[in-house]
Amino acid sequence: MGHQTSVDITTPDKAENSKAANTKTLFIKTYGCQMNVYDSERMADVLAPVGYAPVDSPDGADLVVLNTCHIREKAAEKVYSELGRIRKLKEKKAASGGTMKVAVAGCVAQAEGEEIMRRAPVVDLVLGPQSYHKLPEMIAKVSRQLGERLETDFDTEEKFDLMPATRKVDGPTAFLTIQEGCDKFCTFCVVPYTRGAEFSRPVDQIVAEARELVAQGVREITLLGQNVNAYHGAAPKLEADQFWGLGQLISHLSKIGGLDRMRYTTSHPRDMDDELINVHKHEKTLMPYLHLPLQAGSDRILKAMNRGHTYAEFKDLVAKIRAAEPELALSSDFIVGFPGESELDFKKTLEAVEEIGFASSFSFKYSARPGTPGAALPGQVPEDVKSERLARLQKLLTAQQLAFNQSLIGKTLSVLVEDTSRAGSELFGRSPYLQGTHFKGAANLIGQIVRVKITDAGQNSLRGVLEEKSL
Ligand code: 5AD
Ligand code: SF4
Repeated sequence: MGHQTSVDITTPDKAENSKAANTKTLFIKTYGCQMNVYDSERMADVLAPVGYAPVDSPDGADLVVLNTCHIREKAAEKVYSELGRIRKLKEKKAASGGTMKVAVAGCVAQAEGEEIMRRAPVVDLVLGPQSYHKLPEMIAKVSRQLGERLETDFDTEEKFDLMPATRKVDGPTAFLTIQEGCDKFCTFCVVPYTRGAEFSRPVDQIVAEARELVAQGVREITLLGQNVNAYHGAAPKLEADQFWGLGQLISHLSKIGGLDRMRYTTSHPRDMDDELINVHKHEKTLMPYLHLPLQAGSDRILKAMNRGHTYAEFKDLVAKIRAAEPELALSSDFIVGFPGESELDFKKTLEAVEEIGFASSFSFKYSARPGTPGAALPGQVPEDVKSERLARLQKLLTAQQLAFNQSLIGKTLSVLVEDTSRAGSELFGRSPYLQGTHFKGAANLIGQIVRVKITDAGQNSLRGVLEEKSL
């Protein structure tokens, strides 16, 4: 689960690499969720000591990594068309006497393995999400033409143990992966197959990484996991043989001086335990924003999706969380056109959205993923019906998002300043509810939490004025 975006990771590590005599260039293109964004940063980290410096174009790069997403069919297809473009660049580089290596990482790599190299011979290397620490070795092997080019077995524990301890951060916000994989087996989803079984990192490791991020100026950390609230990591050494849940972990991390804001994503409704809900009540570093996918409003469809809860149970859960944190803004994921979804079932999704009210949402047409139980179900919904339902759902969700943003006009929100705006003369930061917020102010406020009175609200962002005595 998670937000689906496409981001180029080009965080440079010039200081470190300027030391390397033979600097090579690395271009990483990231598809999909925040977990992939995090993984791309870690790949750049692991390659820095062997001389790879990030660049922001694949043209002429020594190594091109596509960190892929498999969650919907379109996402996987985009990778193949990008590989077509990369092939031309590889040929161009070869014509001028150079070599470009091409690696496909991430969930498409995990799911399709050798098939990728058959379909796109431009690819030199395929590696699944648990093998990134072995990248330098694998690249060396490709260079020596040893032919061992596949590395998609699951070994999560090793991945985290062998990643370099040092992370380079860029700005006051950072992601931190605390959990990977998923055992929920929703019938539409590839994640349990591509990312494997649930694995939680030990508390000590997470605390050390968080402290290091804070020491580099990070003030907001988003804890990441495919099913993050299923977190059950080994307790610190003193409490050997015990496991902590996400609530306890967040309370503990909140004590790190300088770490002012925390978020976590993505959660499954069935794993929202009372301890975590209580943390929303008592821990003010935890932002009043929760991404909690509902997927569908009809109990029949929820059952076919193997979500493990009814709509009434979701509604009760939301009431409980809102009682603990009345300021909470909810976001969600929805799928329309799951096999067997009738017009009546779909209307229940619309009713659920009306009833609960979401501050923002992601909604998708069901896309049959080979190998998942959903793909083999009878009653696949025709494409035009899916499109029509998606349009109706998005109209409602968009209206709710705009209404929520507009309800903030006149209020003063705390904003963590991340950067200057594109226009240059303004600052950009995020509200507690994650909206991008634009306002006038001096660049020395970057990295600070300021108070901004909201004067305007659009679909995707807010605008406001800096309050006096803001700091
Ligand atoms: N088809 C459509 N949407 C999907 N998602 C996951 N798998 C599929 C699929 N096969 C959506 C879910 C999930 C989000 C990250 O992507 O809504 O929560
Ligand atoms: Fe996929 Fe369901 Fe696991 Fe989320 S909870 S990653 S949708 S199987």
